[in-house]
Amino acid sequence: MKTAVKIAENMYWVGAIDWNLRTFHGYETSRGSTYNAYIIIDDKITLIDTVKKQFADEMLERISSIVDASKIDYIVSNHAEPDHAGSILDVLAVAKNAKVITSSPSGERALKQIFPEDTLPLQAVKTGESLKLGKNTLDFIQTPMVHWPDNMVTYCKEQKVLFSNDAFGQHYATARRFDDEVCADELFYEAKKYFANIVMPYSNQAKKATSDVKTLDIKVIATSHGIIWRKQIKEILDLYTQMSEGIYDKTAVIVYDTMWHSTEKIAHALLQAFSEKGYCVRMRDLATNNYSDIMTEILESSYVAIGSSIQNNQILPPIAGFLTYLKGMLPKGKKYIAFGSYGWSGKPATMLKTELTNSKFDVVLDPIEIANTPSKAQLEKVRDDLKAIL
Ligand code: FEO
Repeated sequence: MKTAVKIAENMYWVGAIDWNLRTFHGYETSRGSTYNAYIIIDDKITLIDTVKKQFADEMLERISSIVDASKIDYIVSNHAEPDHAGSILDVLAVAKNAKVITSSPSGERALKQIFPEDTLPLQAVKTGESLKLGKNTLDFIQTPMVHWPDNMVTYCKEQKVLFSNDAFGQHYATARRFDDEVCADELFYEAKKYFANIVMPYSNQAKKATSDVKTLDIKVIATSHGIIWRKQIKEILDLYTQMSEGIYDKTAVIVYDTMWHSTEKIAHALLQAFSEKGYCVRMRDLATNNYSDIMTEILESSYVAIGSSIQNNQILPPIAGFLTYLKGMLPKGKKYIAFGSYGWSGKPATMLKTELTNSKFDVVLDPIEIANTPSKAQLEKVRDDLKAIL
């Protein structure tokens, strides 16, 4: 039987573990994920978020280990995305008098669009509004764009529990629920990867949300994905501040795809320059590395070099796809270098530079373009030109 896990007095995790999730709309989730829902037992019985639709039975089974689900009075929907709101109808089918609390106006609008054939019993709330459950009170704080316009977090001041939804989460399936029960290296890597692949486009909003949250007295951060924070709260909040500012020193990642190893040779010359200048530098060939891990490294880099060969007058398709992903993620505070090789025509690095500058990314060297196999002298010039600006 799947049971609930206590997180505070009369508060329980009743979510679901998705051990086999390997992609979350393009984000490679190599450690799976969880969809965290929580039940509060009080005069008014309240469910905080639900789970992805196909895990509704698992959530209801966990709820049943604590309380009869038909007695639920409120469902707080901190976020309308279907990994959290996907089982609202399943709960309402059992808890026929429950109200759904959502943010005003974005949550209300999103839930109506996500469930167009159903009339949900919605009650919209704004920052500063509260809901008294009995011994516990829920305060609502809207955190738009962390991760959708409708996002909000819910804070219980009596027990100092923050239900943070997508913020501070990780795609990380484990049999444990708390931060002090798992490997810290794995946990913080997954928290960074999650930020880099989900939250980074909204870094400014994440910074403000983190700043708002830091004013609260918090004992538990009950996320909607992965592990619940109860020991390393300052660490995850400080990490969010750093990641949302995007400032990192002496770190670089070189991302490339190569046809006949000429672009790869240029990549090695850049690697040598970064290494000789004391940078922590990583080489990532798109033939053997996925976007999601690379984006995590870009988050923590000060320089990003991107290289491609030319094929039929175009940059290689894996690099074109990667650029699309990168442009959506909007990493802050990075310096870019474009490089590549060509055969008889085409300008791969110029094309890359145009793509990057059109997205207002800061390209700091002239495009590095070499016909066919780079000579030793050409590679030494690549190395020396980069070293000169580091
Ligand atoms: Fe975990 Fe934006 O949903």
